[in-house]
Amino acid sequence: MLFFDEREELGAVSIIGCHGFTVMTGECLHYGDGMNVIDAVNQRISVRQFTNQEVEHDVLRQLVIDASRAPSGGNVQPWRIYVLEKEATDRLRAVIAGNPEMAPPEYDIYPSGLVEPYRTNRFALGEQMYAKLGIPREDKAGRLRQMAKNMQFFDAPASMFCFIDRGMGAPQWSDLGMFLQTFMLLATERGLGTCAQEYWSVQHKAVREFCGAPDNELLFCGMAIGYTDTSAPVNSLVSERMPFDDFAKFVK
Ligand SMILES: Cc1cc2nc3c(=O)[nH]c(=O)nc-3n(C[C@H](O)[C@H](O)[C@H](O)COP(=O)(O)O)c2cc1C
Repeated sequence: MLFFDEREELGAVSIIGCHGFTVMTGECLHYGDGMNVIDAVNQRISVRQFTNQEVEHDVLRQLVIDASRAPSGGNVQPWRIYVLEKEATDRLRAVIAGNPEMAPPEYDIYPSGLVEPYRTNRFALGEQMYAKLGIPREDKAGRLRQMAKNMQFFDAPASMFCFIDRGMGAPQWSDLGMFLQTFMLLATERGLGTCAQEYWSVQHKAVREFCGAPDNELLFCGMAIGYTDTSAPVNSLVSERMPFDDFAKFVK
């Protein structure tokens, strides 16, 4: 098992090195038996460049079924999921490319006036990502171009959207997070990369129409799904986490 700092040094390629169960075949990562949960937790990153290798229908279907083992308060299972395979993902990419205009999201992605230390965490992520890509702060166009890759699902061959009934509240929204993280860990176990994308909340009208989602369902986020392009510098980003003492304490 590699530690974070070693992973950082070696770049994204090092995510294949885990317990010796992982072998690399071309651009695709295959995992054998024996990945522990902690391996999946440590290996999962937000992937922002994918290869064009397709993800099998049965794999996507099983991932969604398995992710639905996630807990939810009262077992209400509030997630409403729409999965797009390559053909549908390509069609949606074309729809959005034809009309990339963004609409105000139906929920606040961040609170207005994000306070510290959350503001700094968010800022740091952007700086680290653009540093990996060699895009300086002055290069606004370059940063916008990178941001716009969201609407192409970072070239992922498959995607997913997570909606929730408008009547649901904060507890049920947190249940969505449980579903999504379970999905992403299971995808990691299968050698797949993912990137959750709140970006899609600014394209909620087009996504709703495309998916045929009913009006009572509100779009929370999309997700890009596919095989990680391990040669892409952006995928070597290992985002930072606050130290224990900054967000947790033992109550004596
Ligand atoms: C609900 C959710 C929505 C996100 N939306 C986006 C997004 O629209 N675009 C993007 O590039 N990353 C998005 N991310 C990825 C976060 O930036 C990322 O999880 C965070 O920086 C931590 O990095 P890591 O996932 O590599 O550990 C999202 C993550 C979550 C959980």
